[in-house]
Amino acid sequence: MSRQLFVTTALPYANGNFHIGHIMEYIQADIWVRYQRMMGNAVHFVCADDAHGAPIMIAAEKAGKTPQQFVADIAAGRKPYLDGFHIGFDNWHSTDGIENHQLAQAIYLDLKAAGLIATRVIAQFFDTEKNMFLPDRFIKGECPKCGAKDQYGDNCEECGAVYSPTELKNPYSALTGVTPVLRDSEHYFFKLSDPRCAEFLEHWTQGSNGRGQAHLQSEVYNKIKEWLLPDEAGQRDLGDWDISRDAPYFGIEIPDAPGKYFYVWLDAPIGYLASLKNRFIKLAGDSALGAQRYDAFMADPATEQYHFIGKDIITFHTLFWPAMLHFSGRKTPSAVFVHGFLTVNSEKMSKSRGTGLDPLKYLSLGMNPEWLRYYIAAKLNARNEDVEFSPEDFMARVNSDLVGKYINIASRAAGFISKRFGGRLGAISEDGAALLAALRAQQATIEELYEDREYARALRETMLLADRVNAYVDANKPWELAKQAGMEARLHDVCSVCIEAFAVLTTYLKPVLPTLAAQVEAFLGVAPLAFGQAAAALGQGHRIGDYQHLMQRVDVKQLEALFAPADAAPQADAATAPAAAALPGGEAIAPAIGIEDFNKLDLRIALIVNCEAVEGSTKLLRLTLDAGEGRTRNVFSGIAGACKPADLIGQLTVLVANLAPRKMKFGLSEGMVLSASHADEKASPGIYLLQAAPGARPGMRVH
Ligand code: MSP
Ligand code: ZN
Repeated sequence: MSRQLFVTTALPYANGNFHIGHIMEYIQADIWVRYQRMMGNAVHFVCADDAHGAPIMIAAEKAGKTPQQFVADIAAGRKPYLDGFHIGFDNWHSTDGIENHQLAQAIYLDLKAAGLIATRVIAQFFDTEKNMFLPDRFIKGECPKCGAKDQYGDNCEECGAVYSPTELKNPYSALTGVTPVLRDSEHYFFKLSDPRCAEFLEHWTQGSNGRGQAHLQSEVYNKIKEWLLPDEAGQRDLGDWDISRDAPYFGIEIPDAPGKYFYVWLDAPIGYLASLKNRFIKLAGDSALGAQRYDAFMADPATEQYHFIGKDIITFHTLFWPAMLHFSGRKTPSAVFVHGFLTVNSEKMSKSRGTGLDPLKYLSLGMNPEWLRYYIAAKLNARNEDVEFSPEDFMARVNSDLVGKYINIASRAAGFISKRFGGRLGAISEDGAALLAALRAQQATIEELYEDREYARALRETMLLADRVNAYVDANKPWELAKQAGMEARLHDVCSVCIEAFAVLTTYLKPVLPTLAAQVEAFLGVAPLAFGQAAAALGQGHRIGDYQHLMQRVDVKQLEALFAPADAAPQADAATAPAAAALPGGEAIAPAIGIEDFNKLDLRIALIVNCEAVEGSTKLLRLTLDAGEGRTRNVFSGIAGACKPADLIGQLTVLVANLAPRKMKFGLSEGMVLSASHADEKASPGIYLLQAAPGARPGMRVH
């Protein structure tokens, strides 16, 4: 029986363009959706912009736009990314859409009717300079759980704890830098501490769906269970959840609560439902009919609901969201699939130039989007693990596996079929038939691996099969058969086996390489390749088209260009870029900070006691610094290309003295020295170490 699925990815904040981490999430989900469709299952695959919240409201204000206009401008830029990487969402909506306003209010009222909404007057941080209650994201301080510094007011990125901003230690306003004052305000809470919620969540998070699949990956459950389960004293960490915010706020109004809005994380996941509902309305061409079909779809016990998300938003999706759905009388997710983070060249995603991988730049260089899909799939499994993009590895996997092993099979055989046999396949003898049977026998395994999101293994298995086909080609040497008299039939046989094998392998790769698969289907002259049924052979006498090269190899020059610094000015965030601003030193001035931020840096004069090259590194110098502490410090600095060690000894420079020590390949670096450089090092090379005026003494603080 065919399944009916509702699949989402996380809804991206509408305050910036996509980065490669978003694209990875969409590729992961898109592969799964394509696989499901190849199985004959019906899928609604939807997403939306996460439009609400104070950060977007503030960013819009800075950009001189209404929040609606700001969000619309971001939304308008989504298409080239999605189309470019062959990501086939069925609908893209916004959490500010009418459906979401209605659904959020309806769900809230249902929770209220269930007795799970409470109000309490709480003292909340107020910025007296901005004259507003400070949004969580604009209060920073130390995590109350683990003590990590500079954490946001709602959750800790270090330990994942969720808390309220007043629990932060040493809070400050990120808007103005002032220490916020406490003011009373009535807030609305979702009573997660209600025993019914605790009991439900304890059960749900460990439970499984109708297919016997766990709702959560085991490593995800292990992460959240500390909030969920009572400690030895019977206490739970899961407190009531503050779901209201005071005006001014860009969000959805709480019914019967003037001046109060839903906190963005309340209405954001409801946006999944809103986007689906919006799709049904568009399909029906009528809002009442569409709404009715949406209701029926969601009421149908057969409907399965899956969310693909990243590891940073687990709590919202595995605790708050299922509880909201359950206690408002709605379907809970069939499973939440959590992935790790993509890093590029071992660095976390950054908006600044130089790090990361700009998806649009990738496309504009003419790089094949399916190379990236293949590479990401080759690295993804079903676990919450980080994925590393390394350019060398990317090139190796694409060139030697995808092109070298798979594409090669078609290119080795197709020419003979067209030139020597009128494009028709011939009779296949026993050895070839056995090989093809072995390939086809793997189909159920491959299907299962896709179902389980074990893409890396699905591709590995497929490449092992490609190896077998290539071994068969090498053993039979069609290029030699072609020269030998009387070997026509064998040549025809061997090449036909290759083409049949190519069709099987293309089926196995199709969820990952949809466009390539479509080209192959056209070339082979076959109906869309599918899963879920035994694959039919093309068969003797089947006519294939002329082979045209299907995929290029990655050129190292493309990768160099991809990671080269931009020639022109650095790309500022599209929505916040100051129009034609001057770019001193090749980059825009960073956002304003308060003096409190600056004072966190402890800069000291340091004497360079010794300086030497680092063996095994062309970039680093090892500095021995005296910062007046009665001991010396060891600091590595990436200035080897610009400075001679002997020239530096005896100079006074500036040391960031309170930077956490960092373990490097060559030893511990206990701080950092300051140097100047242009943002575009190609256009304007040179690194200049800062020097103190004569008279400064080691240990003096730099203000
Ligand atoms: N708006 C919220 C989600 C609301 S869902 C109801 C949000 N937006 S986000 O734009 O910050 O992130 C969107 C998704 O991208 C999240 O699943 C997040 O984990 C994912 N990623 C962000 N950076 C990532 C990587 N570097 N690698 C992989 N995925 C990453 O959170
Ligand atoms: Zn923490």
